[in-house]
Amino acid sequence: MTCLCVQTEGGRAGAGGVGDRFPSALTVADVSKTCRSACADPLPSKGGVVFGSLSVSGLVLCALVSVAPAATAAEQLARGDYLVNHVAMCVQCHTPRDGKGELDRTRLLKGAPIPLRSPFPHQGWAFRAPAIAGLPGWADHDAVALLTTGRRLTGYTPKAPMPPFRLTRDDANAVIAFLRSLP
Ligand code: HEC
Repeated sequence: MTCLCVQTEGGRAGAGGVGDRFPSALTVADVSKTCRSACADPLPSKGGVVFGSLSVSGLVLCALVSVAPAATAAEQLARGDYLVNHVAMCVQCHTPRDGKGELDRTRLLKGAPIPLRSPFPHQGWAFRAPAIAGLPGWADHDAVALLTTGRRLTGYTPKAPMPPFRLTRDDANAVIAFLRSLP
């Protein structure tokens, strides 16, 4: 919850730069109580409720003014970038390397051989990670299934060492949006 506290002089509800009005169903006492609890313990959050408050004759009032939208496209891309490159490490297996073993940044996520053998010889093992930049040929709902359940809509589970991811739906959508944004 975000708490915006705005002082006004005359005390007309709805001033205060947050651009909205008090819901008519709320009394001043209701609004004031809500505001105090919201302002006492403002939790940083992207979604949810935004409160605007203003002071009227020394009384702090607060109004429910809007529901913040879900993450913007730019925030979603930044989250996807973070997950792909720093958390789920897709980049490490799906990008080819140069002679020194460094990631070839000119071919990010363009598919790469897996140079290791399985430590479990009887388990399925893939020796190549496919290109995932742009997610060619993938429908979003199939990619969401893969990243949230570890298996595709057909039930197919990619071979190790592809991890069976259990991302949240929001994280899966962010990863997909980021991969789609790549050439
Ligand atoms: C430890 C190495 C590794 C990591 C980390 C990894 N992958 Fe993979 N991935 C593979 C391998 C190997 C395959 C090929 C599996 C096969 O052929 O069955 C694969 C296959 C895939 C496929 C194709 C699956 C199919 O059904 O054809 C997609 C899509 C994919 N990975 C996406 C990702 C994404 C997105 C991430 C990060 C969130 C990721 N991978 C992280 C190794 C990895």
